[in-house]
Amino acid sequence: MPLTFDPPNQPKYSGDDVITSIWQDPGFGSYFTDHMAVADWDRQVGWHNDRIVDYAPVALDPAGAVYHYAQEVFEGLKAYRHADGSIWLFRPEANAARFERSAHRLALPELPAEDFVTSVHRLVEIERRWVPGGEEQSLYLRPFMMASENFLGVRPAQSVLYVVIASPVGAYFTGGVAPVDIWVSTEYSRVANGGTGAAKCGGNYAASLLPQELAHENGCSQVLFVDAAERRWVEELGGMNFFMITTDNQLVTPNLNGNILPGVTRDSLLTVAPELGLTPVERPIELSEVLTRIGDGSVRELFACGTAAVITPIRSLKHEEREYIIDVDKATHTIPLREHLLDIQYGRSADTRGWMRRVC
Ligand code: COI
Repeated sequence: MPLTFDPPNQPKYSGDDVITSIWQDPGFGSYFTDHMAVADWDRQVGWHNDRIVDYAPVALDPAGAVYHYAQEVFEGLKAYRHADGSIWLFRPEANAARFERSAHRLALPELPAEDFVTSVHRLVEIERRWVPGGEEQSLYLRPFMMASENFLGVRPAQSVLYVVIASPVGAYFTGGVAPVDIWVSTEYSRVANGGTGAAKCGGNYAASLLPQELAHENGCSQVLFVDAAERRWVEELGGMNFFMITTDNQLVTPNLNGNILPGVTRDSLLTVAPELGLTPVERPIELSEVLTRIGDGSVRELFACGTAAVITPIRSLKHEEREYIIDVDKATHTIPLREHLLDIQYGRSADTRGWMRRVC
């Protein structure tokens, strides 16, 4: 039976004044809407008790397995308000499919894609007043699933909680689309072969935090990770995929080798690339190739991408005491690519691939 995530009989709502004052400066992930979608799973019954409830802390026993063994996965997607006031999701089925794959890798139950999409759709429907309409604003949806069984033995949990929360957001980075400096981490790895690199699980992000602190100490805002085995191949940033654009108009990104998150933005950019005169290429990228080609000018643009920040231009890579600088004033494709995707998401250009799903 498909889940329905029915709303409460008497939903509570914040006043318009509260919502509009948050819209003035929402930042990213600091404010949350009035409700959340919830469902339970246990080994006997499967998925059940799906509902929309008032936003509230999740009470877990201190022995809850997620606190100890980090058996958890999450997603991130956005709802966009179009100029006519309608509200749309971008490729929610792609997030649903990745959520299933992430859950499988973390030995969590797979929430059927249809139920994932329903949960997000119903939450956005009840929270439609919260979807901001300002420049680059949206309602960020954060579905997540965690082991909720009270048990300290190390094995897949027998009970699990699924939750979706929603947050009105503006630009992810406070500087907007300002180009960022990136620290190349050769001391720390994000993931290793056979690990959880392709899954969207909290542990991958936790592993990126110490290197990110190092990046900050070195005047950079993000980290670029190379592979753990040879420390030779470019993988991804702490929370975003990596791209380079060459002078022969190739849009190049590391191929999905099991260690890289299959980003929905990544996939969307590769798909629309030909419309901007770029040839999409997925292949292993050696760090030395990137550094050499920044030097000889045959790599003209670098950027990072993800749902949260869309595309962030990269100004420099710092590696072993040297700084490799891109002349961002000569970039011709990064911003048009970003605008192209945003135009589809905000309904300013035709959705020729059927990526958008109308909520209300
Ligand atoms: C995204 O860009 O969607 C991310 O995954 C970053 C997020 C963890 C804030």
